Amino acid sequence: MSDNIQMLTVWGGPCSSKTTTALKLALELASHKKNVIILMCDFTAPAPQTLLPSAPTKGKSLGELLSLPSISQEEILRRCIPLGKNDYVSLLGYQKGDNAFTYAQYAKERAIDLLTLLRHTADYIIIDCDSAFSSDVLSAVALETADAVLRLCVCDLKSLSYFASALPLLSANRFASARHIKTLAMVKPGQDNGEYQNAFGGAAYSLPFVPELEEQFYSARLMDELCSKPAIAYNAAIRDIVNNLLLGAEVIAPPKKAWSFLAKKKLEKEKPTQEPPLRSIRPLMTFKPNPEKKGGGIFDKLRGGKGGRS
Ligand SMILES: Nc1ncnc2c1ncn2[C@@H]1O[C@H](COP(=O)(O)OP(=O)(O)OP(=O)(O)O)[C@@H](O)[C@H]1O
Ligand SMILES: [Mg+2]
Repeated sequence: MSDNIQMLTVWGGPCSSKTTTALKLALELASHKKNVIILMCDFTAPAPQTLLPSAPTKGKSLGELLSLPSISQEEILRRCIPLGKNDYVSLLGYQKGDNAFTYAQYAKERAIDLLTLLRHTADYIIIDCDSAFSSDVLSAVALETADAVLRLCVCDLKSLSYFASALPLLSANRFASARHIKTLAMVKPGQDNGEYQNAFGGAAYSLPFVPELEEQFYSARLMDELCSKPAIAYNAAIRDIVNNLLLGAEVIAPPKKAWSFLAKKKLEKEKPTQEPPLRSIRPLMTFKPNPEKKGGGIFDKLRGGKGGRS
């Protein structure tokens, strides 16, 4: 399960912490010097506005990108909004004032093209999925083709009701919903009493409710570190998710050898190498889809309806 998860879709009911979780996962990846693009599918309340209310977003709309005659890495990068001081994280979402009728409708193939290009543009793609994925092509395609889906389950009746309605829509094999990584979200003391876990069919992770997070959210400071005592367990869970699912083998430390201390000392003296920040990133590789190529390519795999996950 932990092999090669480069694209993670964060999904759950309304107000289940999708945006918050997507951002905190991206920040944790950034602390490992990984470039991350957060793809924010919500057009009912465009998320970049809520995270970076003073950032200029004019001309940086995901909706506009999806309705171009053709999309390229350059067009994607032009619309990425750097996350304030963090050079490794960028947001790609709808701009202020956009709504469902601002741009022309697009087909599933267009969403697939975008996700495929994104894979070649940053180290990791975290998708902040729209809960109403049945009316958002991009979210539906993200649920189908991402390497993994983090399903956020809030321990309340609204969340149970949401999944009872939404999961039948994902029953086709191509969605692989049985392999979603179930995560309890915003867990308040006494809420995770086992009953909800049973109702959700178990949970691999648990993200506690942290009052400081709410404060960060309302003051648009979600990119700051969480320092309060209740945040310790939250930070640890975010780290676990990133280490186990996304970084995988990379974070498994090599066995210590007798000379490792000396080697470390030597390394400390060396000047640290500076990696290029995302705001100036060049695409990981220049990707030119070849429509004539048959078999083997990501495009063919996706268009064949098999999805990115095997
Ligand atoms: N772990 C947490 N502890 C406390 N508050 C949280 C936590 N996670 C999210 N919140 C708060 O819950 C609210 C909803 O969070 P968020 O916007 O991330 O959810 P969402 O699923 O993206 O919502 P939407 O469906 O509207 O897009 C926000 O006020 C946020 O601050
Ligand atoms: Mg959201």
